[in-house]
Amino acid sequence: MQITSDASLQTRNTLALCAHSRALVSIESENALREALAWARANSTAVTVLGHGSNVVFAGDLSSMVLVQATRGRHCLDDDGSHVRLRVAAGENWHHLVEWTLSEGYFGLENLALIPGTVGAAPIQNIGAYGVELGPFMEAVHALRIDSGEAVTLSSEQCEFGYRDSVFKHRLRDQLVITAVDLRLPRVARLQLGYPALASALALRSEQEISARDVFETVVSIRRSKLPDPAAIPNAGSFFKNPVLQKQQAARLKAQFPDLPVYPQADGRDKIPAAWLIEYCGWKGHRENGVGVHPDHALVLVNYGGDSGACLLQLADRIAVTVRDTFGITLEIEPRVYGQCNG
Ligand code: FAD
Ligand code: EPU
Repeated sequence: MQITSDASLQTRNTLALCAHSRALVSIESENALREALAWARANSTAVTVLGHGSNVVFAGDLSSMVLVQATRGRHCLDDDGSHVRLRVAAGENWHHLVEWTLSEGYFGLENLALIPGTVGAAPIQNIGAYGVELGPFMEAVHALRIDSGEAVTLSSEQCEFGYRDSVFKHRLRDQLVITAVDLRLPRVARLQLGYPALASALALRSEQEISARDVFETVVSIRRSKLPDPAAIPNAGSFFKNPVLQKQQAARLKAQFPDLPVYPQADGRDKIPAAWLIEYCGWKGHRENGVGVHPDHALVLVNYGGDSGACLLQLADRIAVTVRDTFGITLEIEPRVYGQCNG
């Protein structure tokens, strides 16, 4: 096991924020993971798990040992002709997995193309995009307990998936290192074309003409046109979750702000775009102290070279205050914050 002490994390987070961890180990096998967890226990060192760092904010240095999940492997557990069951290692690249499933004729993940990050991180916030969430395709999550090294398997129900939410953000927060996930995918495509941006991009074609590959390519092209590439402008995607309101509260706001977009949810509540609230408050394109709000998407906070997570979080705080004062809504930060602010 190769441990790097006082390791820089700047190239290990898509916001390119400057921070160091006490120690860092790249995990390439389950044995290496067991060894690293044993070392952390023996040295009374806390553990932080990292994938590609596309949903984290480093507010300062980490006193923990960072384990970077870099395990590889995907194989078919079984195929009954109608569905296939796959086991995929946590360190696999999510987008590469989506591409591979399509090329094999396994469907369902096409709307989730181009989401950055690893397979192991995908259940943490139940990744979602363009009208589809991971949850319905997830059959099981395999993990090791950080405190004992014990292997555990959770069923999809036990993951308690919700909008950008799961048990891994609550009761099991910081308890497990996910090692692999099992997915169950249909062999016949059932396309989900309802998301407004997707529906309008495909509006000129009839449903019979559209393939899963078309959906994949359209999602990739919409995402490229809307979201800044972190390699060019460091960012963590959406910085806040979209608020989900009770119907009455959404209706009151709609009466006051007639242009407010309102998206009805299956549970009877209404989701409203945080980007609209932030843009309405005048933040879109704002820049200060080397950080800012992207000029093309108000939900994406970017690092223009400030390198400081503290500056970014100060800006996020000020945005949240104006949104609360204007709409009475408290925005919730989507990425996980580490470092001085959060331990
Ligand atoms: P990291 O950022 O490394 O980690 C995120 C959290 O998961 C951390 O708390 C970490 O401890 C935990 N974690 C990671 N791996 C493991 C593991 N193996 N075991 C236990 N815990 C683990 N998300 C969406 O849902 N939809 C989108 O459309 C979307 N678009 C994005 C666009 C851009 C440009 C960017 C930068 C981000 C976007 N995201 C989106 C967020 C991000 O891609 C996802 O949250 C992704 O799943 C994070 O993967 P990661 O490997 O980078 O995780
Ligand atoms: N909008 C604005 N101003 C903007 C951008 C958007 O007012 O600058 C409004 C428009 O009304 C638009 C609506 O917001 O119709 C929704 O915008 P978009 O389709 O870009 O989606 P989003 O709500 O901003 C969510 C996810 C994204 C995901 C897309 C597509 C959250 C927090 N974000 O963004 O996920 O890719 O939908 O499904 O749910 C991420 O989690 O990091 C992420 C990028």
